[in-house]
Amino acid sequence: MDRIKNPFTPGAGYLPPQLAGRNQVIEDGEVVAMRTKLQRAERGLMLIGPRGVGKTVLLKCLSEHARANGIIPVISEIRNDKSDLEELAQKLKEALYTLDFKCKMKSCIQEAFSVLGSFVKKFSLNIGEVGASVELCRGVGESGNMELDLSQVLLSCARAAKVSSTAIGLYIDELQNLDEEAMRGIIVALHRSAQELLPLYLIGSGLPTIRTLIGKSKTYAERMFVYEEIGALDEDSSWAALVKPFEDNGVSVEDAAFVEMYKASAGYPFFLQECGYQVWQHAERSPIRVDDVLAILPQVIENLDKSFFTVRFDRVSVVEKKFLLAMACGESEKPQSIVGIAERMGRTPNSLSMVRRSLIKKGMIYSPALGMVAYTVPMFGAYMRRASVST
Ligand SMILES: Nc1ncnc2c1ncn2[C@@H]1O[C@H](COP(=O)(O)OP(=O)(O)O)[C@@H](O)[C@H]1O
Ligand SMILES: [Mg+2]
Repeated sequence: MDRIKNPFTPGAGYLPPQLAGRNQVIEDGEVVAMRTKLQRAERGLMLIGPRGVGKTVLLKCLSEHARANGIIPVISEIRNDKSDLEELAQKLKEALYTLDFKCKMKSCIQEAFSVLGSFVKKFSLNIGEVGASVELCRGVGESGNMELDLSQVLLSCARAAKVSSTAIGLYIDELQNLDEEAMRGIIVALHRSAQELLPLYLIGSGLPTIRTLIGKSKTYAERMFVYEEIGALDEDSSWAALVKPFEDNGVSVEDAAFVEMYKASAGYPFFLQECGYQVWQHAERSPIRVDDVLAILPQVIENLDKSFFTVRFDRVSVVEKKFLLAMACGESEKPQSIVGIAERMGRTPNSLSMVRRSLIKKGMIYSPALGMVAYTVPMFGAYMRRASVST
C-alpha cells in the first residue's frame, strides 16, 4: 500500500487518526473547563494510567477544546528538574500576555505580572523579562516558600482571568514527576480558587502514583479531583482505532485479521498504532487478510521491542534487570509483591529497597500499594521474558 498515505501514528503524544473510546473522559474534561469558566466550583480531573495508553493525546485534545472556547490553557510537561518551574513560569507569562489583550482591567494584569516577576526573581528562574516595565509588588510571591509563592502567582493569574470573564486551565502532563512543594503550591491555589470562585482548574495526567502524591500534599487534596483510569481499549473501540483508518483510506479489513491485531495489541493504543502501521506498510492489497497479519506480527513485535521496550530497558543496571525479570513471573501484568520478587531472587525484601527505589526513579515501575510494584509499561512482563530468552 502507499506508504506515504499510511494513516497510523505510533509515537508519543501523536494525534491518532481515530481517537477511539475516549468520548466520556473528553466530555468530563470539557465539563471541568466550562464549569470553571462559568465560575462554578468544580473538581479537577486526573488521567492516570501506564505509558502508551493515550494520556498525552487526551490532555492535548482537552487543552485545544479549552482554547477554542476562549479559555487560556497553560500546558506543561514535568521532567523532575529545575526546568519544570521555568517552563511553568514561562507558560504563565504567555498566558498573561494573552490575557493582556482581552483584559479590561489592566491593573489586575499588572499585578499578576508583578507577582510573577517577584517569583521568578526569588527562585532565579530564567524566563526573560516579565511584563514590560512592571513594578514588583513587594512581599507577594517572594517569601522564598515555594508553596506560598507559587500559590500567590497562580491566584493572581486567576484574578486576572476572572476580570476578563475567562479561565486559566492548567494541563500538566507527567504530573508524578512534580516536586512536592510545587504540588502543594498548586493544590493550595486550586483550593482557594474553588472557595473564592476564581476561574482556575487543573487537568493532570501521568502514572497512577499521582494519587498518592496528591493525597500526601494536603489532607483535603484527594477530594479535589476525579481520577479517570486510562487503559487498554475494549474490542469495539479497538476496532474503531484500527479498522476505521483503513476503511477511511479505501482499504477493508477481514474480521479474522482484525481479531489477530487486537489479540496482539491487547487493545493498548500504542500497540494498536504500531500494528496498524506495520500491516499497512507491508500488505499489498485490500482486503487485509488474516495471513497478511500473521506474516507481519513477528516484525511488529520486533519493532515494539526495539522502539518501545528496549529504550527503557537499556538504562537499567544488572541487578535492576534481575528485579524486572523476577517481576515477569506469573501474572506479571498485575502488581507484584516485593516479598514474592525477593523470594524469586533469593534475597530479602529489605535488601531490595535501593533497587526498587532506583527503578521507580527511572520510571520503570511504580508502587500502586504498600509493598507492591507494577511495570509502568503495558506488556512489559512478556517483553522481559522474550529478552531473557534471547540473551
Ligand atoms: N484513543 C486512542 N485511539 C487510538 N490510538 C490512540 C488513542 N490514544 C492514543 N493513541 C495512540 O497511542 C500512542 C500513545 O499515546 P500517548 O498519548 O503518547 O500515550 P501516553 O501519554 O499514555 O504514554 C500514540 O501513538 C497515539 O497516536
Ligand atoms: Mg504521555
